[in-house]
Amino acid sequence: MIPFNHLGWFFKYLGPTTYPRDAIKELCRFLRPLSQKASLLDLGSGTGVLSEFAYRCRDDLRFVAIDPSEGMLKFSPYYVEAHTARAEALPFEDESFEVVIIGEALHHFQDPDKAMQEIVRVLKGDGRLFIYEFDPGRFLGKSICRAEKMAGEPANFYKPKVLKSMLEEHGFSVEISQHGWRYTVKAQLTGAADLRLLS
Ligand SMILES: C[S@@+](CC[C@H](N)C(=O)[O-])C[C@H]1O[C@@H](n2cnc3c(N)ncnc32)[C@H](O)[C@@H]1O
Repeated sequence: MIPFNHLGWFFKYLGPTTYPRDAIKELCRFLRPLSQKASLLDLGSGTGVLSEFAYRCRDDLRFVAIDPSEGMLKFSPYYVEAHTARAEALPFEDESFEVVIIGEALHHFQDPDKAMQEIVRVLKGDGRLFIYEFDPGRFLGKSICRAEKMAGEPANFYKPKVLKSMLEEHGFSVEISQHGWRYTVKAQLTGAADLRLLS
């Protein structure tokens, strides 16, 4: 397993360099329609790298973050309300957030499907989801996937099309943008209320 608890300093300073500029611009466009004080949840926030990018374009939102690693969370920026928790069991009421963001973290979740159920539960009816991930169908993405498997990580990497279908099954409409060997997902809940009634 990657010892995240001892690597906060490393991710705090090197983490931002792993995000392509286009992906950050896309995040800003994605956040633009949100109303003032809308609640944003950063899942697997680590030291808060993705929240920091979001804050640069929307400093009027309420920032909440979860991560199981306290050694990462202690580097969170002052404006983030940080909770020690896992994406598979979110300590929030139903329909608490307008938007969920996940950066380089989905592949670390033990049970991504359970995490998606939790995301749907805590999002408001027309809530939105932004994901930044590595594509295991590209050489560099595949190499990282292999390295993480060797390190004992869950390495739940999905090709963009596969992640799109998974999210659609959870009631999202999904748009993918490829950034070389990385990609972003912009998704919005469509039939979420109905799906909640069924579960
Ligand atoms: C590579 S770091 C990414 C951190 C941050 N989002 C960023 O962009 O720098 C992955 C993070 O996922 C967290 N993580 C691992 N398992 C998790 C889970 N089940 N639920 C939520 N976060 C998890 C780790 O503790 C770690 O902080």
